[in-house]
Amino acid sequence: MTISELLTVSNRHQFPLPDFQNGDEIRFPGALVSALLDRFTKSGDAVFDPFVGLGTTFFVCEQNGRIPYGIEADRQRYEWVRERITTKDHLFCGDSAGLAAFGLPEMDFCITSPPYMPHWHKWNPLYNGDPDYDGYDVYLKRMQEIYGQICQRMKTNAYLVVQADNLTNEKFSPLAWDLGRALSKVMMLEGEIVVNWSEAVESGNRFTQCLVFKNTGG
Ligand SMILES: C[S@@+](CC[C@H](N)C(=O)[O-])C[C@H]1O[C@@H](n2cnc3c(N)ncnc32)[C@H](O)[C@@H]1O
Repeated sequence: MTISELLTVSNRHQFPLPDFQNGDEIRFPGALVSALLDRFTKSGDAVFDPFVGLGTTFFVCEQNGRIPYGIEADRQRYEWVRERITTKDHLFCGDSAGLAAFGLPEMDFCITSPPYMPHWHKWNPLYNGDPDYDGYDVYLKRMQEIYGQICQRMKTNAYLVVQADNLTNEKFSPLAWDLGRALSKVMMLEGEIVVNWSEAVESGNRFTQCLVFKNTGG
C-alpha cells in the first residue's frame, strides 16, 4: 500500500541540548517521533534507531511505552544519553555498520534522522571524515549497507522511517531523494510523509520528509 501523507507537527525541542553541542542543533523534534510512533507502533513494540545522536528516540519511546534500542558512534553523545535513560543496556556505542555484533532482538519499527551529507562535500559523516572514505557515493553506499543489515534485524513487513531533508544551505542538494533511491535497493519504498513544521523556522527548511520503507524480507 502506498503512503502519501501530510503531517503538521511542532518543531520545538522539549529536551535540553547539552553544553558540549555549543548550540549546534542536530536533533529531530520529539513531537515528530511521537507522531510516528502513534502512526506505526503499539505499546510494548521494540523500536530501533541506528543513529541515536542526542537520544530523542530513546526519550520519546520511554515516555510512550515503547522499547528503544540504538547505536551512536560518538562516545560523548552516547554517554550523555546513557546517563538519562532507563533502558541503558539497549544503547550501544559503535558503528551501525557493525550492528550484527550487538545481539539486538527483532525490531517492530525503525526510525532515524541519519547524518546528512550534501552531494558536493567530500567529508563523509558516516566515517567521521576519514579521507579514505571521502565522497557522496561512498556515503550513499554505506547507508545502503547499514540498512541491509538493519533489515536482517527487523520483523517481516515492519516499517522503517528515515527523516531527511533536501538540503538548501549554499546550494540545493537532493539528499532525501538520493537516500530514497539508494535505500530502496535494500527495502521497499512505500512512500513519504511530508512534515510541515508548525513553528517559525529561522533558517533551513520549512518542512521535512519522512521516507517510509517496509522490510518485505528481500
Ligand atoms: C543527525 S544525528 C541524529 C540525531 C537524533 N535523531 C536526535 O534527535 O538526537 C546523527 C548521529 O549519527 C551518528 N553517527 C554517525 N555515523 C555513525 C555510524 N556509522 N554509526 C552510528 N552512529 C553514527 C553521529 O555521531 C550523530 O550523532
